[in-house]
Amino acid sequence: MGKPDAAQARHVFLMCPPEHFTVAYIINPWMHGNLRRIDHAVARQQWRSLYDILTDRAIVRLVLPQPGSPDMVFTANAGLVKGRQCIVSRFRYPERQYEEPYFADWFMDRGYEVSLMPRDIAFEGAGDALFDRAQQLLWMAHGHRSTQGACEVLSGRLGVEVEQLKLVDTRFYHLDTCFCPLEGGFLLYFPPAFDEDSRARIESRVPRSRRIALDEEDALAFACNAVNIDSTVVVNRGSAALVAALSHKGFEVVQTPLSEFMKAGGSAKCLTLRLDEP
Ligand code: ARG
Repeated sequence: MGKPDAAQARHVFLMCPPEHFTVAYIINPWMHGNLRRIDHAVARQQWRSLYDILTDRAIVRLVLPQPGSPDMVFTANAGLVKGRQCIVSRFRYPERQYEEPYFADWFMDRGYEVSLMPRDIAFEGAGDALFDRAQQLLWMAHGHRSTQGACEVLSGRLGVEVEQLKLVDTRFYHLDTCFCPLEGGFLLYFPPAFDEDSRARIESRVPRSRRIALDEEDALAFACNAVNIDSTVVVNRGSAALVAALSHKGFEVVQTPLSEFMKAGGSAKCLTLRLDEP
């Protein structure tokens, strides 16, 4: 991969400060045993470190955190943005549905063309829908949170081809916990999180030389939950082997501990939403 062009526009991300972040309910396996076990000072410091890493390389916009919405810090689930269009999420669990109007307002106030999913179609935004970086393609997962109906609505509204993937391991309940398209058409993923048919489709669309399959240890350290900014890949943690594999493909890995957020089932990528999707 070449060095990013200096004239290249800076990427833009949305984040939400962790003021009200906690584990107040259990809606994924990571949250088990962690009810109200967040060290808030550490969470604030970890979030701030991620924010600092991103603001060195990109523009970060903020949405106001809301009391009673402890998972709002995971802005990846706000919705899916493409150009000036935003399709706001419809959360599967009532605990997170309170976030929907706050995210919708944020986008409406900034002049986005906001649309909603039909009420009965669960859709959890960029947690389950990720654009490929080399082809005109949206990867979209169902199985735990978003439903297959959402895939159909999205392809209609956004006019993009959608490749549907089925998630089968409850620890990897959002697509961005086990799958990360990178610049240049590279892909970080954890194959066992997908059913066989989905794995075959991933393999048919992404050449072997561009696929980086993680082992379980890296996957459980949320290494697929990466924020990719040009040739930088920001993650909670990655093994020496993964760092070497990425460096071999031209990527520099920046590791920043996010243990407090992992207690809620999220890490670097979940804490951000990319706003500059062409
Ligand atoms: N506790 C949150 C939930 O279960 C974590 C969300 C993580 N976000 C993500 N994009 N994977 O919904």
